[in-house]
Amino acid sequence: MRVLGIETSCDETAVAIVDAPAGGATPHAPLGTLLSNVVYSQMTEHRRFGGVVPEIAARAHLERLDGLVAEALAEAKLGLADLDGIAATGGPGLIGGVMVGVMTAKALAFAHDKPFLAVNHLEGHALSVRLTENVAFPYLLLLVSGGHCQLLTVRGPGDFTRLGTTIDDAVGECFDKTAKLLGLGFPGGPAVERAAKGGDPHRFTLPRPMWKKPGCDFSFSGLKTAVRQTVEKLPAGDAAAISDLCASFQRTVGDVLADRCSNALALAPSPTLVVAGGVAANLYLRSRLEEVAARHGAKLVAPPVKLCTDNGAMIAWAGLERLRLGQSDGLDFRPRPRWPLDPTAPGAVAPNSADRV
Ligand code: KG4
Ligand code: ZN
Repeated sequence: MRVLGIETSCDETAVAIVDAPAGGATPHAPLGTLLSNVVYSQMTEHRRFGGVVPEIAARAHLERLDGLVAEALAEAKLGLADLDGIAATGGPGLIGGVMVGVMTAKALAFAHDKPFLAVNHLEGHALSVRLTENVAFPYLLLLVSGGHCQLLTVRGPGDFTRLGTTIDDAVGECFDKTAKLLGLGFPGGPAVERAAKGGDPHRFTLPRPMWKKPGCDFSFSGLKTAVRQTVEKLPAGDAAAISDLCASFQRTVGDVLADRCSNALALAPSPTLVVAGGVAANLYLRSRLEEVAARHGAKLVAPPVKLCTDNGAMIAWAGLERLRLGQSDGLDFRPRPRWPLDPTAPGAVAPNSADRV
């Protein structure tokens, strides 16, 4: 079974093709093979604005996407006729970009008479680990990206229970803000991780919101403010202080994530803790999560670093997981700027029939 996946929900225009044996809904479904994976990062277009500009992003997706689809097919040595399905991120995300991806996927699916799959971007992150690792459902997932920070039990495609979420900012956003305040550039996560190397993680004491509180919710706005106040007091151009602050910030985030995951593993025991989303690329945080998983007799599993940040492979893979369960979407699917994984969770957007015409 071969599925092409398109990701256009933020600032990466990405297309990939995955292959896996068609199979039933076994918990240990066979792993996939990545036949091609092309990404055009729009970073240079957005860098001078210090963040992603939605209108620029949508236009850049439109300009690049057709060429990237052709490239992904060429790399996989396949034609559109060889595919079994065409998937695209259907939300949540910047709506202009999502529309570009969805319209392209629908057009290709219609013209070549293939099933179309509208994939929830968060589900793409959530299931991506199963492309490369033999992880059985159900598993506990820490989803940490630029816009989200959640703990969920993943029972299968479309079957999630949210245990906790951030009450304010996402952890990736906090990395980006820290990097911006320190003039380390955009995106902030990798820059902070690099700067933290060799720094003293105990030099600065920063607040750990929610730490040791019951439950699995997160909060990062207080930490963001504390970083800003600390930066204001730093002598200009002090590279050692920047490095120490990044290391202290990362340790603080590690403390909070480990504490929240510990509560989640106690509330919903699972042999596997999966971490996914852009922030899962951070090797220091992975090591902290490994420790907490081991304390609960669980194993930490994460996608390869290059599949943590947004990519087409995770969308193709989630599409394939749904397709092999016999699912697909109609060409009347409407892109969803908001699309919670667990619509029953408090504060989540209720499944709205108006979202599907
Ligand atoms: O999943 P993703 O690519 O996009 C969203 O769906 O949001 O996540 C992007 C986020 C950004 O905030 C970025 O700074 C963060 O992931 N990130 C990292 C690292 N690499 C990317 N954060 C910490 N350490 C990293 N190495
Ligand atoms: Zn993402």
